[in-house]
Amino acid sequence: MSTEVAPIEAEPRSSAEASGAATGEPLLRLRGLSKSFGAVHALVDINLDVPAGQVTALAGDNGAGKSVLIKCISGIHSPDSGEIQWEGKPVHIRSPREAAALGIETVHQDLALCDNLDIVQNMFLGRERVRHLTLAEEEMETAAGQTLSSLAVTTVRSVRQLVASLSGGQRQSVAIAKAVLWNSRLVIMDEPTAALGVAQTAMVLTLVRRLADRGLAVLLVSHNMNDVFEVADRVAVLRLGHLVAVERAADIDAQVVVDLMTTGTSTRATQPKPAEPRTADDQA
Ligand SMILES: Nc1ncnc2c1ncn2[C@@H]1O[C@H](COP(=O)(O)OP(=O)(O)O)[C@@H](O)[C@H]1O
Ligand SMILES: [Mg+2]
Repeated sequence: MSTEVAPIEAEPRSSAEASGAATGEPLLRLRGLSKSFGAVHALVDINLDVPAGQVTALAGDNGAGKSVLIKCISGIHSPDSGEIQWEGKPVHIRSPREAAALGIETVHQDLALCDNLDIVQNMFLGRERVRHLTLAEEEMETAAGQTLSSLAVTTVRSVRQLVASLSGGQRQSVAIAKAVLWNSRLVIMDEPTAALGVAQTAMVLTLVRRLADRGLAVLLVSHNMNDVFEVADRVAVLRLGHLVAVERAADIDAQVVVDLMTTGTSTRATQPKPAEPRTADDQA
């Protein structure tokens, strides 16, 4: 991917910082990120790390700023101030195309799939493979099928099925497989289970877990505490544009998250965490 990031401006860094992966640098780091729309302070001084190999849940009430935060990362909004670091290097992500070039894939709530196209066409939309001036249909079909089976998505009967004929869970699976096919490093999902039934939700959460287990960073926006505690390693809570907490999921429970979402604090004391002591980088 590194050869494709030309449009992204990266400022020179020291060699120690450049070797981010080796030093445990998070894949994505937000530093002091703020975004206002007129008088509305949608995001205020957000500091958040999104590490590879983990599911970071982003929780918050309606209007908390979850979508604006995602849009700043995926190149739809540009932040007013603050810095986005990718593997330790500051980047300016000016469009979804630039986000994709870095390896950031966003699965929007409406999924951004085309009903009138089949699975292969959707997975390669805008990035079709061409051989000798014609579309490499067989090659794309094989790659799409292999990606789905590598994720153990077995309920899709044919990759030539129209997306319109798929269930909600299958559509989510195709959107996730598309991110994997394009070697994404960070997958952002906005309420992926909001419209799904019980079995489909379980299927999608299994896929989300599988992405993190493959070493991808996952940022999962969700209101649903069952989903959050089923798959998340870390939980970040936004309230009125402020990031009020980032905790290991193992250290808190749903009631704490609901308290944090609604009041910004929780009277239920969370346990001290000897394995991962809080640092100045963590949120108060
Ligand atoms: N394009 C916009 N123009 C003006 N205000 C916006 C815009 N997008 C979001 N906002 C405001 O920013 C705040 C955060 O919105 P949003 O991120 O959509 O919340 P949510 O956490 O529900 O996703 C809200 O007060 C919303 O009205
Ligand atoms: Mg939203």
